[in-house]
Amino acid sequence: MEIGIDKIGFYAPHMYLDMNKLAVERNVEPEKFTIGIGQEKMAIAPITQDSVTLAANAALNILDEEDKEKIDFVLFGTETGIDHSKSGAVYVHRLLGINPNARAVEVKQACYGATAAIQMAKGHIALNPESKVLVLGSDIARYGLKTGGEATQGAGAVAMVISAEPRVMRFEGPSAFYSDDIMDFWRPVYSDKAMVDGKFSNEQYISFFTKVWKQYKEKAGLSLEDFEAICFHLPYTKMGKKALRAVIEEASQSVQERLMDNYQVSTEYNRNVGNIYTGSLYLSLLSLLEEKEDLADGSLIGLFSYGSGAVGEFFAGRLQPNYRDHLFTEKHDELFGTRKEISVEEYENMFEETLPSDGSSIELDIDADPAPICLSGIKEHSRQYVNKQRDVSTLSGGDSR
Ligand code: HMG
Repeated sequence: MEIGIDKIGFYAPHMYLDMNKLAVERNVEPEKFTIGIGQEKMAIAPITQDSVTLAANAALNILDEEDKEKIDFVLFGTETGIDHSKSGAVYVHRLLGINPNARAVEVKQACYGATAAIQMAKGHIALNPESKVLVLGSDIARYGLKTGGEATQGAGAVAMVISAEPRVMRFEGPSAFYSDDIMDFWRPVYSDKAMVDGKFSNEQYISFFTKVWKQYKEKAGLSLEDFEAICFHLPYTKMGKKALRAVIEEASQSVQERLMDNYQVSTEYNRNVGNIYTGSLYLSLLSLLEEKEDLADGSLIGLFSYGSGAVGEFFAGRLQPNYRDHLFTEKHDELFGTRKEISVEEYENMFEETLPSDGSSIELDIDADPAPICLSGIKEHSRQYVNKQRDVSTLSGGDSR
């Protein structure tokens, strides 16, 4: 049975910061951010967006009524979840009106969460070929103002429908994976900002990539030549290039050029959004599929997932016949085309504006946020979410059906 990605969509908040302007304010040369790091724009989430709303907005863009009936498993990969106990998947399940006879679970291992979710989804579909799984990767990356990681922040979500007989990409061949308990990047439960050993995290990313690539080649009996492109988890767009460079000499000159050219295309969306942690690898895949107009049906695409702490995995997918007919390129063009630039000062104010953490209630202005699904406030310790397309008034908890 073929199992893979039947639909894939993404959502990023409607505001962005120009990295050139951030560089000027931080007294660094703009080229450090745009070339050295490889980021042009950073998506900024308003207070009315969190990992739940970003994921729900991403899924809202791609699901139809049949999907909502057939989805019986919602798997939510995130490392910026909103509750220590209740999963973000349960909120998304309700906000989208998915079949109540479904499982809804959150998966965590830094940026690797959505990949773990995909592997679980594959098993579920193998046992239940008629069903569909909604896999979400949604995060807001925060390191702090004026920190080393600041230029690598971002916000957004990717939503994928995993099914049998997928229309976009079928997963093919083995996976190679590797885990080790390291402290390259983490976020203690008391902190809303990540801790990071930047240089060490870069080294570990490359080391995990070379390890799983070596293991993959042995398991699959394939080499770089077999791949039309390789997509990477992209904390910033220079990172994947550094990893690819570590192995690229295994290939002929023409294959090297193809992989490097396609790598560049696969970074386009990420370059304009920033690190979205769990969704980042899949945003890169989306960038490749939607931006490279001559990418042939049947191409084999490699996928490298890395989640600090750390777990790495390499696996692959083959593009299905006429896969382009099943993309949501216009919606994503519109999303990028309607974003609004904000100043560094506005970004700093937004960064500092956080939700109350002392249990008090708050009402938020959702009219300022064009997203269909927003966080409208907190009441009695419970986040209040609104699907503007469906809900007539502000709703709480689980009473919206
Ligand atoms: P930094 O110390 O500010 O930057 O930190 P740098 O001094 O290393 O410079 C960066 C690059 O810019 C260098 O290029 C410079 O040469 C270049 P490289 O040597 O690396 O190729 N540069 C310039 N280029 C052109 N013109 C110029 C110029 N000036 C300098 N004028 C760092 C950078 C990424 C470490 C920092 O931003 C950071 O700590 N970020 C967060 C951690 C991170 O993203 N790690 C990546 C691997 S870990 C991962 O991917 C997992 C993660 O997503 C989390 C998860 O799993 O949940 C983070």
